[in-house]
Amino acid sequence: MCAMTHPASPELDPELYLPRMASVVAVESMTAREKFFKVELSKPLGHRPGQFVMLSLLGIGEAPISISCGPRHDNILEMVIRNAGSLTRVLHRLQPGARVGIRGPFGSGFHLDDFNGKDVVCIVGGLGLAPLRSLIQPIIAQPQRFGSITIISGCRTPAEELYRDELESWSRMDQDKVSVIRLVDKTANLPWNGKIGLVTAPIPDLKINPARTLVALCGPPVMYKFVLMELKALGIPNSQIFVDLERRMKCGVGQCGHCQINHVYCCQEGPVFRFDRIENLQEALQ
Ligand SMILES: Cc1cc2nc3c(=O)[nH]c(=O)nc-3n(C[C@H](O)[C@H](O)[C@H](O)COP(=O)(O)OP(=O)(O)OC[C@H]3O[C@@H](n4cnc5c(N)ncnc54)[C@H](O)[C@@H]3O)c2cc1C
Ligand code: FES
Repeated sequence: MCAMTHPASPELDPELYLPRMASVVAVESMTAREKFFKVELSKPLGHRPGQFVMLSLLGIGEAPISISCGPRHDNILEMVIRNAGSLTRVLHRLQPGARVGIRGPFGSGFHLDDFNGKDVVCIVGGLGLAPLRSLIQPIIAQPQRFGSITIISGCRTPAEELYRDELESWSRMDQDKVSVIRLVDKTANLPWNGKIGLVTAPIPDLKINPARTLVALCGPPVMYKFVLMELKALGIPNSQIFVDLERRMKCGVGQCGHCQINHVYCCQEGPVFRFDRIENLQEALQ
């Protein structure tokens, strides 16, 4: 049965509600819709992979944004932001030197120690690479700590691929250790050196031992059902699959109820869930 999550107590640390001001130090276009942001805080964020921050602009608004870098000792935070609405439209116009508000880090995230000695499979679709990069980076940086590392990354067309240089550099690592499979639904007449197909296509051919494999999954909602079916066919138990689920969020700290999946508060118990803990929640994969 899924552990019941209670909203955080009203005596919550007031710092959780107060944005810390941070400076934008770099903004780079990644695709037509996504920009890479590097911001500098006054102290290290101290996050785990898979956590998120509440990013705000005074007078405009606030939205949850995934942390896209692995844990670090400096004051830098990296994010990928899609131009999707009122806040992100303004964020896309920012230049280095602009000031933004940051609350967090929030959410469950991944515990790297869970992955020690395991074969790791990361399956990402589209913008899902942004949060999972925060897990992939520390794993790739210490490959001796883990078994084999497989990254399956899919997007609609080559023009929508995020972090191409990094995916390509990971694919040039020791191929007995790291394997990167890049896919697009269609090439749209653009140059492409990966495969064509859905992220589900390579799963049946993965050479893994289900007993010692952990899978992390993040992508558009439609992807989950089909990927989970393929993982089941491979014999990977739900307790070895982590899914990153997004819900609308306001407070980020278990107070407003905006993010609820049935009785579970996604902002606190998620957005990363071990799949066996939520598989019976009706609203989980909607
Ligand atoms: C944990 C988490 C991590 C996230 N990480 C990232 C990330 O790394 N990068 C990123 O770009 N985005 C991320 N998002 C999504 C991002 O928070 C949203 O896209 C956010 O709404 C953008 O804010 P906005 O004000 O620019 O857009 P909004 O004005 O909120 O609009 C965004 C879209 O949502 C629609 N919308 C707005 N309100 C509602 C509503 N109540 N019901 C249904 N639809 C609505 C709008 O029509 C529009 O299409 C994340 C979300 C969560 C929960
Ligand atoms: S309870 Fe407010 S966002 Fe989760």
